[in-house]
Amino acid sequence: MTLNSLQKVNKAPMSEHPEDPIYPVPARLLDPAQCPKPYISSLEQYQQLYRQSIDDPSTFFGKLATELLSWSKPFHTVKHGGLDHGDIAWFLEGQLNASYNCVDRHALADPNKIAIIYEADEPNQSENITYGELLRQVSQLAGALRARGIKKGDTVAIYMPMIPEAVVALLACARIGAMHSVVFAGFSAEALRDRVQDASSRLVLTSDQGKRGGKTIETKKIVDEALKNCPSVETVIVCQRTGADVPMKAGRDYWWGDECGKRTNYLSPEPMHSEDPLFILYTSGSTGQPKGVMHTTAGYLLGAAATVKYVFDYHPGDIFACMADVGWITGHTYIVYGPLALGATTVLFESIPTYPTPSRYWELVAKHKVTQFYTAPTAIRALRRLGDEWVEGHDLSSLRVLGTVGEPINPEAWHWYYDKVGKGRCAVVDTFWQTETGSHIVTPLPGAIPTKPGSATLPFFGIELAVLDPVSGKELEGNNVTGVLAVKKAWPSIARTVYNNHQRYLETYLKPYPGYYFTGDGATRDKDGYIWIRGRVDDVINVSGHRLSTAEIESALIMHNTVAEAAVIGANDDVTGQCIHAFVCLKPGVSCHSTDLNKELVLQVRKVIGPFAAPKKVYLVEDLPKTRSGKLMRRILRKIVAGESDSLGDISTLADPAVVATLIAKVANS
Ligand code: PRX
Repeated sequence: MTLNSLQKVNKAPMSEHPEDPIYPVPARLLDPAQCPKPYISSLEQYQQLYRQSIDDPSTFFGKLATELLSWSKPFHTVKHGGLDHGDIAWFLEGQLNASYNCVDRHALADPNKIAIIYEADEPNQSENITYGELLRQVSQLAGALRARGIKKGDTVAIYMPMIPEAVVALLACARIGAMHSVVFAGFSAEALRDRVQDASSRLVLTSDQGKRGGKTIETKKIVDEALKNCPSVETVIVCQRTGADVPMKAGRDYWWGDECGKRTNYLSPEPMHSEDPLFILYTSGSTGQPKGVMHTTAGYLLGAAATVKYVFDYHPGDIFACMADVGWITGHTYIVYGPLALGATTVLFESIPTYPTPSRYWELVAKHKVTQFYTAPTAIRALRRLGDEWVEGHDLSSLRVLGTVGEPINPEAWHWYYDKVGKGRCAVVDTFWQTETGSHIVTPLPGAIPTKPGSATLPFFGIELAVLDPVSGKELEGNNVTGVLAVKKAWPSIARTVYNNHQRYLETYLKPYPGYYFTGDGATRDKDGYIWIRGRVDDVINVSGHRLSTAEIESALIMHNTVAEAAVIGANDDVTGQCIHAFVCLKPGVSCHSTDLNKELVLQVRKVIGPFAAPKKVYLVEDLPKTRSGKLMRRILRKIVAGESDSLGDISTLADPAVVATLIAKVANS
């Protein structure tokens, strides 16, 4: 990765309320008459366990892995390898199966326990799926995959809406040892094609259509378009969400119901070695090419289960509701693997927070008596803007823990969540983590760690953090320091590689600061040792918690036949956190005064990546700020858009410093 933009680390204090008190653990959580006793119920207890996890990780995680997971063959060695060589391995000789851990053991204990509450797009269509039923469905689909020739080590692409079959799909792959590669169903056909090709997926699991916020999504049509150029795909299995009449390609496409109907209701799980791959999930980085981040079975599952237990303080009987999409890591870990590994009831939400009204979340909480609720700051900000009346009058008394993830939460949004949703009686956990970390790495524990609005607080067990000087790479010791956030030792759920490109894994995460895992985020450790995440220091933009690479969007724009060059930056946005501004130079002879062209360029990005990557603003410009050696200075564009043109820094290195005045005028007039 290029470290050229590391100067970006924002040193300004994040909190706009520096006088904000520290929020103690809400008294209600520690009152046995009102709540189950938190597993970790004091700061001292956290500190003591944290110390153990760092000083003797083998004992700490060996015990946790025995307590939380079921093994078909026990492990003897807890950990091996590390960050120096990128040869990380945990629970080496052990064997287990993730679907057994997430389904069978709970179905055997109580087949009638509810595993999934499916809250469909239309509020009156929710449905419960028991563990017994989940085991039957997972077995049938696993059998269908096998019958279509999928075996251990193959990759299966999943492009599905938020329906129970999507959860079944992940678990069925895990059952037979196939790696799933879920592609978020908001991605376009082209983006899906690239991900299917990169992973050489042999089979695609999808649906006829999707429903979201009252709208219909043409899921199968997108798959058909994508598969025009995917020779590795032999089979497509199509689930019926709406029953629409969609084209089926003979010899390739089969109905889910038919395929599963032929299979037995029980299929034994494939024993997997701890380090056998569980899944690939694509994420964006500094280059235009998305990375297939790979997680392995035991370490990932342990991270997922341990954080649901300790960070969400999950107790038997709780109803766990993570509002993410299964297409992102948050959905993988906190809708599927984490809650189900613990035998929890997990809520699968197909809709959006404002459909049919902005009370949807709160109706869902009241209806299902949700105890843990997890969403992104962007949703909180959007709902806060719409007014308190939408949250008032709903019975939210079942809630104990409110989580946020995906981007820094501004104190105003934190306060609203804490006061209006939590009524001051719930813990707010601002959880920092990434696709690559598998599970939370910096986060409060609800019963133990006092919080500060906007801070992810302290490291989870086994996570030894370092704040590094971005330029020298030296560790910044003590408190009141700002730099880039890194981790000093491997932990169980860290990604093991980038699919088919271990070199890229090493170069992105382990080589920038040798001996450390580099998160790509800037961070401050404040006077109390609390961590404040400052946002990405590489060329990654975070829009509504979606991680996008500037290079990916630029290359989408350049594919348009009028575009000569493009530069994309992230600008601040009150609702989405960041939004995308694109500066586009057109080819000679193309008129740059057309508003239609602006729209067309936005459409171009939607088509190549997906609607969520659409630029909010497109500026058609004559030239971009570049150094004499041709390097694009995005920093200057960022400053101009932020209205900080008076502090552009040294622009004398630009090939044509005059371009700056033109750009300032362009942005001001747009
Ligand atoms: O910049 C950080 C931001 O999201 C990035 C990871 O994105 P992704 O891999 O898509 O995973 C998102 C869900 C885990 C991080 O590098 N991020 C995530 N959580 C937080 C956050 N930034 C600030 N505070 C958080 N709690």
